[in-house]
Amino acid sequence: MKISVIGCGYLGAVHAASMAELGHDVIGIDVDETKIAALAEGRAPFFEPGLPEILISGVNSGRLRFSTDIADAAGAVVHFVAVGTPQKKGSYAADLTYVDAAIDALLPHLSAGDLVAGKSTVPVGTAARLAEKLAASGTGAILAWNPEFLREGFAVQDTITPDRLVYGLPPEPEAAVRAESLLSECYATALGADTPLVTTDYATAELVKVSANAFLATKISFINAMAEIAEVTGADVTQLADAIGYDVRIGRRFLGAGAGFGGGCLPKDIRAFTARAEELGRGESVAFLKEVDAINLRRRQRVVDLAVDALDGEVNGKRVAVLGLAFKPFSDDIRDSPALDVAVRLKGLGADVIATDPEAIENSRRLHPQLDYVTDTSEALTGADLVVIVTEWNEYRQMEPAYASALVGAKIVIDGRNCLDAAAWRADGWTYKGLGRP
Ligand code: UDX
Repeated sequence: MKISVIGCGYLGAVHAASMAELGHDVIGIDVDETKIAALAEGRAPFFEPGLPEILISGVNSGRLRFSTDIADAAGAVVHFVAVGTPQKKGSYAADLTYVDAAIDALLPHLSAGDLVAGKSTVPVGTAARLAEKLAASGTGAILAWNPEFLREGFAVQDTITPDRLVYGLPPEPEAAVRAESLLSECYATALGADTPLVTTDYATAELVKVSANAFLATKISFINAMAEIAEVTGADVTQLADAIGYDVRIGRRFLGAGAGFGGGCLPKDIRAFTARAEELGRGESVAFLKEVDAINLRRRQRVVDLAVDALDGEVNGKRVAVLGLAFKPFSDDIRDSPALDVAVRLKGLGADVIATDPEAIENSRRLHPQLDYVTDTSEALTGADLVVIVTEWNEYRQMEPAYASALVGAKIVIDGRNCLDAAAWRADGWTYKGLGRP
């Protein structure tokens, strides 16, 4: 099937390469010439495990092409819209400029019966508005909303073997049948016999995505709230999480207390959800998400406060090794990263911050050139008065305390992701401080 993907960021680039991997003939479109030049040569413009391999095989097979000219989308039958919906400046609401621009640019190149399939995360009500725009254009193209649930770091796997698919279909029965059959043709190879498929209306499809992210964010902030209580009572939040997680109704996943959530999705999606609910006169229904956000932001400061305490309040000129900058492991993404935020706050307090990360240094340096970056963990650790781990990359989790002992100036570690074996570090003579742990 001939497919176009409009927007080749984290979501679109992975989607385009995955659709080619599933056997389709794909054109990826983006306005960013540098990004398109890299993709066209089969090079991933960001770090995502598994993406380089499928990009190369797609480009070499001729099934995967890239262009900056939206006219090249003409001839495709399904057009996935995967542009960003960032937080608006000075507001909680989502900025839909790129979504509207993509649809407007696509309109002259659509043919009757084409399917425009929205993948971007949008405020509920957006699809209905865009469907009116399509109808008014007289192209005869139809719209579906097909939200994406991929996790960075597992994006290819999540796209090629999704845990569920959601199709938000048009209200007109004939258009709905066509939209469903075209989407199912796109995902035919991905749809295992037991992959759940939810076919629904636009509003439900849009809400599924934002409510899934709101739920995940709430789960993380819940356990971080328990960490705050644990901190004043001497309880251990990691044991608490294990114990409540054994209840299958609760489950252990996403009960990792620490520096909190970041990235390009959870923080801005819960804020956009709050803003949209307020517009709909239902602000009180999701008012708790403001607490979820507030708890989350407090945890970054908690890491900084622990660091200040560990240095007896004398931060100025102290050498602090910050291990981790990406918002989570297996990613070079620093959008709203708690780790980078902690590094910047410590620097702001006068610390001599030496930061490192296996993948995110380049992005971090661009945004915060005032920090000192080193690629080698050992270099970051050398002479450090304090070690702060804020992204739980395997190489940090698996680090031997004795290895770090031989390098640092003082054996004090703050485990901002509760990812180290506290007993082993203490046994090696370290002062260990986790979050929500005695
Ligand atoms: C998220 C959703 O998981 C995904 O379904 C959606 O499509 C996009 O948003 P992603 O942003 O890639 O995916 O990251 P995710 O794995 O959800 O982690 C988000 C943040 O939560 C990270 O900063 C992570 O460190 C943090 N986190 C996660 C915790 O603090 N504790 C946990 O237990 C789990």
